[in-house]
Amino acid sequence: MSLEKIIDKKNAELSKIIDQKKVPEHVAIIMDGNGRWATKKGLPRRFGHNKGVSVLKEILKASKKLGCKVLTVYAFSTENWTRPSKEVDFLINLFSEVLRNEIEEIHKESIKIKFIGDLNPFPETLKNLICSSESLTKNNNTFLLNVCLNYGGRQEIVKVARELALKSTSGEIKPSEVNEELFSSELLTQGIKDPELLIRTSGEKRISNFLLWQLAYSEIYISEVLWPDFNELEFLKAIIDYQSRNRRFGGIESLPNESYEDSHCSSYQK
Ligand code: IPE
Ligand code: IPE
Ligand code: MG
Repeated sequence: MSLEKIIDKKNAELSKIIDQKKVPEHVAIIMDGNGRWATKKGLPRRFGHNKGVSVLKEILKASKKLGCKVLTVYAFSTENWTRPSKEVDFLINLFSEVLRNEIEEIHKESIKIKFIGDLNPFPETLKNLICSSESLTKNNNTFLLNVCLNYGGRQEIVKVARELALKSTSGEIKPSEVNEELFSSELLTQGIKDPELLIRTSGEKRISNFLLWQLAYSEIYISEVLWPDFNELEFLKAIIDYQSRNRRFGGIESLPNESYEDSHCSSYQK
C-alpha cells in the first residue's frame, strides 16, 4: 500500500500501522511557516502565530499519546530578534499569555516543562512565568516538553567551550579530559537523549541554528505543510516515514543470516 493511501486512513487505523517498538523517544520540531500561512490568507502574521499555538497543543497531546517521552520545539531563535519589533513584542506577549493559560493543564497532564536558551533578554513578567512553570512541573515524569526560546545552536556550543576553558584554567579539569561526554554534559540539553527525529514544517530544508550538536544523527523529516495547518495526521505521517528509515550511524546495513565476509566475497570466490 502506498504511503499516501495509508495516510488517507483515519488516525485510529494509522496508529495501528505504527510499530510501537520503534516510536522515537525524542522528537524535535522546527515549527515554521506561521507568517506565510497568515499572509496567504490576507491576515497579519500574528494570526499565524496564534493558530500555531493550538497546533502545538495538538502535537503535544499526540506525541504523548503515541508513547514519545520528549518533545523539543523551536519557538524563538537567537536570530529572530532581527524581525520588526512589533512582531518580536507580539511573540514575547504570546509566550507569556500561553504559559499563563496552559500551565495548569500541562501540570495536570504530568508534563514537565523546561525552557532552553538565553532567557536574560526577556522581560521580568515572562521570566517569572517561566520560573514558576518550571518549578511547578519539575517533578512530573510522564513527559518532557522543551521550549527553545532565544536559542541558537552555535551560541550553545560557544558557551560550553567557554565553560570548559574556564574549568581548565582553574585546574578543575585537564584539557585532555575534554571529550564528547564531558562536552554533552555542559549543553543546555544535558541529561536528555538526542532527538531521533527532527521535523521541520513549511518545506524549508535547513536547520536554522537549531540543536547543532544534538542533531548529529537525527533523522530529518521535512513537511511541506505550514505549521498552522500541521496536525496529528501529519505528525503520524512523519513517524511512519521515520520508522521506514535504516539508521546506520556510519556503519553498514545489518545483514541477517550472513556475515560481512560472505556478503562481499561470495560472488567472486565461487
Ligand atoms: C515560525 O514561523 C515561528 C517563529 C519563527 C517564531 P515564521 O514566523 O518563521 O513564519 P514564516 O516562515 O515567516 O512563514
Ligand atoms: C526557525 O525559523 C526558528 C523558529 C521556528 C523559531 P525561521 O523562520 O526563523 O528560520 P529561517 O529564517 O527560515 O531560516
Ligand atoms: Mg520562518
